[in-house]
Amino acid sequence: MSETPTSWPTPRKFAGAGPLRGTIRVPGDKSISHRTLMLGALAVGKTTIRGLLEGEDVLATAAAMRAMGAIIERSEDGVWSVRGVGVGGLLQPVQALDMGNSGTSTRLLMGLIASHGITATFIGDASLSGRPMGRVIEPLSEMGAEITASRPEIGGGTLPLMVRGSLPAVPITYRLPVASAQVKSAVLLAGLNTPGITTVIEPVPTRDHSERMLKGFGADLSVEEADGVRTIRIRGEAELTARDIEVPGDPSSAAFFIVAALTVPGSDLIIENVGLNPTRAGIVTVLRAMGGNIEPLNQREVGGEPVADLRVRHSALTGIEVDPALAPSMIDEFPVLFVAASVASGRTTTSGLEELRVKESDRLTAMATALQAIGARVTETEDGLLIDGTGGELLAGGGPITTHLDHRIAMSMAIAGLVSRDGVEVDDTRPIATSFPTFETMLSERAS
Ligand code: S3P
Repeated sequence: MSETPTSWPTPRKFAGAGPLRGTIRVPGDKSISHRTLMLGALAVGKTTIRGLLEGEDVLATAAAMRAMGAIIERSEDGVWSVRGVGVGGLLQPVQALDMGNSGTSTRLLMGLIASHGITATFIGDASLSGRPMGRVIEPLSEMGAEITASRPEIGGGTLPLMVRGSLPAVPITYRLPVASAQVKSAVLLAGLNTPGITTVIEPVPTRDHSERMLKGFGADLSVEEADGVRTIRIRGEAELTARDIEVPGDPSSAAFFIVAALTVPGSDLIIENVGLNPTRAGIVTVLRAMGGNIEPLNQREVGGEPVADLRVRHSALTGIEVDPALAPSMIDEFPVLFVAASVASGRTTTSGLEELRVKESDRLTAMATALQAIGARVTETEDGLLIDGTGGELLAGGGPITTHLDHRIAMSMAIAGLVSRDGVEVDDTRPIATSFPTFETMLSERAS
């Protein structure tokens, strides 16, 4: 989504139309897709990428890397190639980098630019322009970057902002004050072109795709774990070597179809090639604890990440108290978990979810309001939702639901439509294209 809307809101009603059956394959992982383009653009040689997510967020990263000198192409059969500039070789972009809706592109690229001798301006859509950037501005400034942001009173600054990189940057040891893979990755990526060793201390583990992939591209990176605290060290002025990458399917996208198959009676669906990195698989743990029948088949490794096909069958779900320690491993899956909880029996309690308030929208308020509007029994607390489920009965339905430029609100409420009597109208489906452009087609076809 760009700052100037190029199309009108596209409302749509989603309603139940029978069980989900057969086999589907969700698109590539968004987090991994961003990182392959970024590291490919910094490597020496030609990286090829199969299974790249062709969603707007990832395309924003591709455009930014092109604007800084990488040559990025897509073949007719969907294989991407990236010819990198080498660490230290990023060029000054001529125009502002338009990050659209993508927080990951913004924060990780701010890190990359922070240790290059270039200056870049970041702009984004209304949702992204309201999100806090202080969390990356703080460590990157410590490393020497000069960052000028709008509205410093909102979360330490928002877009539009300008980053003037520091050459050389200063290596730091940074203890993450918030469990955020984006902040961790921003510092590690800045560390790539910083002399000496940059250290990130992570008291609560978050998705580790950056660490895995940096190692895969040949960076000197070590991870030490003691009492649950991870210390990650990267040696700077690294040389990265191009490689061939296959991106596994996105568990965050699979989650919508997992919840759909669990809650729509008669469903028996196989979702192929789902990434099951333990730092991402919390949703499967929680849905299983609620009684969900999710069976991993054909477990294997794809692109250095654990992957399986998931067989998901309709199940009677029971509400549980979700352990807040699981939150980082399913941070993007709470909106759709709330939908599952709305039709489970008994109460589901969630807490420790303050971070959901600073995603593409305030996902606690957005989901509480949306679910209440379609007849679910939901109470919003400061840091979570309490949901008393229907025990398998359909929700009433209704709408239009306000999606607040948030793809995951739109898709979660589409799934809620499948378990409603009258269907659920979503006010705007356009944001879905940021992460899962084929969602609506796959949902109408149900299975191949
Ligand atoms: C992401 C990290 C998470 C997640 C986002 C993708 C990443 O954000 O919500 O969708 O690719 O590193 P935070 O780091 O803000 O938790």
